[in-house]
Amino acid sequence: MDSDLAQATYGDMPHLASLDYDLFEEPWEQSDFKKAWHDHQNIVIRDKKKKVIAYCFYSKNDEGGVEIIRIAVNQEYQLKGLGTKILQFILTNEKFLTFEATLRETNLAGQLFFKKLGFKCIKQLKDFFNDTHEDAYYFFLKKEAEKPILI
Ligand SMILES: CC(C)(COP(=O)(O)OP(=O)(O)OC[C@H]1O[C@@H](n2cnc3c(N)ncnc32)[C@H](O)[C@@H]1OP(=O)(O)O)[C@@H](O)C(=O)NCCC(=O)NCCS
Repeated sequence: MDSDLAQATYGDMPHLASLDYDLFEEPWEQSDFKKAWHDHQNIVIRDKKKKVIAYCFYSKNDEGGVEIIRIAVNQEYQLKGLGTKILQFILTNEKFLTFEATLRETNLAGQLFFKKLGFKCIKQLKDFFNDTHEDAYYFFLKKEAEKPILI
């Protein structure tokens, strides 16, 4: 793994919940992070003091693709390429060819971020979120399969 990239420890979960509270209108609780830590994969980036400043939880779905469940970067560190670094690592290193993310219609920065990484919005899901009744935009990316080398 790239030297900046690591995996979260269970002990990071309270800190992640606190970061999440600053970043999302509907933040995850510590219990959500603890469950995600058990159920999904994660990648984090830490600062010099070893505090997590960027995190991503993702899972391999039933259709053989990868779902980006949550990706976030501490506000002070945004727009410096950390989100890109994490997502590019997942896109490059996961053997799966399809990747998806479901974004709130109001999350323009998130949508622009996924577009920049090559995702396309292919579906609008009406009234998707129970909390705010917002629509969701479903972003999808299909990677080119590597061609076999013919000898
Ligand atoms: C979305 C998020 C993870 C992006 O992380 P980041 O490290 O700041 O993103 P990067 O620096 O890698 O940006 C890559 C590209 O995304 C786009 N982008 C990211 N944030 C943007 C913003 N606020 N406004 C417009 N475009 C943005 C830009 O095209 C950017 O490329 P550029 O800098 O060359 O213009 C971060 O804004 C964040 O944590 N948002 C709150 C949580 C969230 O909404 N997560 C997504 C849903 S789970």
